[in-house]
Amino acid sequence: EKGGYDYFMLKEIAEQPKAVADTLLGRIGADGHLRLDEVRIPDAVLREADKIVIIACGTAFHAGLIAKYAIEHWTRIPCEVELASEFRYRDPILGQRTLVIAISQSGETMDTLMALRHAREQGAKVLAVCNTNGSTIPRESDAVLYTHAGPEVAVASTKAFLTQLVACYLLALYLGQVRGTKWGDEIHAVVRELARIGDEVERVLDTMEPVRALARSLADKDTVLFLGRHVGYPVALEGALKLKELAYMHAEGFAAGELKHGPIALIEEDLPVVVVVPSPRGRSVLHDKIVSNIQEIRARGARTIVIAEEGDEAVVPYADHLIRVPATPTLLQPLVSTVPLQVFACELATARGNEVDQPRNLAKSVTVE
Ligand code: F6R
Repeated sequence: EKGGYDYFMLKEIAEQPKAVADTLLGRIGADGHLRLDEVRIPDAVLREADKIVIIACGTAFHAGLIAKYAIEHWTRIPCEVELASEFRYRDPILGQRTLVIAISQSGETMDTLMALRHAREQGAKVLAVCNTNGSTIPRESDAVLYTHAGPEVAVASTKAFLTQLVACYLLALYLGQVRGTKWGDEIHAVVRELARIGDEVERVLDTMEPVRALARSLADKDTVLFLGRHVGYPVALEGALKLKELAYMHAEGFAAGELKHGPIALIEEDLPVVVVVPSPRGRSVLHDKIVSNIQEIRARGARTIVIAEEGDEAVVPYADHLIRVPATPTLLQPLVSTVPLQVFACELATARGNEVDQPRNLAKSVTVE
């Protein structure tokens, strides 16, 4: 059942190109238009939404953080992302024109379920992004956009995360389409790139051997830090979460711009710091800023592990280890930059003798609040 892999997690990491392609299947027309008729929310509701609130937990929350960048940039609808466990306890402002997106792989997470019930009681419409057919969260939502990752067995979420991102991108683009947002060249390029992103994920998977070797060499470390900016920031959080749950190491993700506001004090000789570098093409200001962050931490002794797109030469002098990912439109980069972090955490956990598929103290679906 593990299809020749030692762990379900390895199998599920390898299945990502297919999971991504399956989630896209039939949803982008030949003319580049999005087809999400299966989402039963009437277009009128989508047209009138004046606020989007995303609720989720753990890895699904990180997908939500990335979705916010895409939704706001492509649709100009204000979007908040909140941990489902915090949501209803702070008396959030919700109304008829609020669209709530609940993201959940299992569809059974109690925190997310309670948050969505609260949202519906307040009159908001809820759309679930879910991987499990007929589970509770989609059943209790007004509409559902299924991810097609297939069953995810390993406790640590991998392929479900990538497909949650794909579903959120599709949804954001669809919202733009329904609302008549002017589709410039940027959006057309994004749709084209999204349609073939599974191949790019495959290319990343083909180059993971050095990442595994690097992970093994860090097995006796206590701490790994992760830095990112823009959509690379949630990717950094996700890389840190994977390392915590699988390798049982102290791992923290930071927005690179926050470094100078505190975390830089943590940098010491030989501390591994993973940096997710934004594309030098899109928001090049951010790229330049993060390159100076890498210089700063390296000057203080950090061992820099840099994830940067192919052709980005500016990072080369400051990278102790360089992990290349294919160039993609900025907002789509998490689909490729998360993959090395999954492989990294999985290999480090194995090197430390941990049970990868069943990490201690964790369950695949968390049905208590
Ligand atoms: C992390 C992980 C958890 C889940 C979280 C939400 O690898 O698996 O953080 O992402 O418990 O679960 P779902 O998506 O089933 O609601």
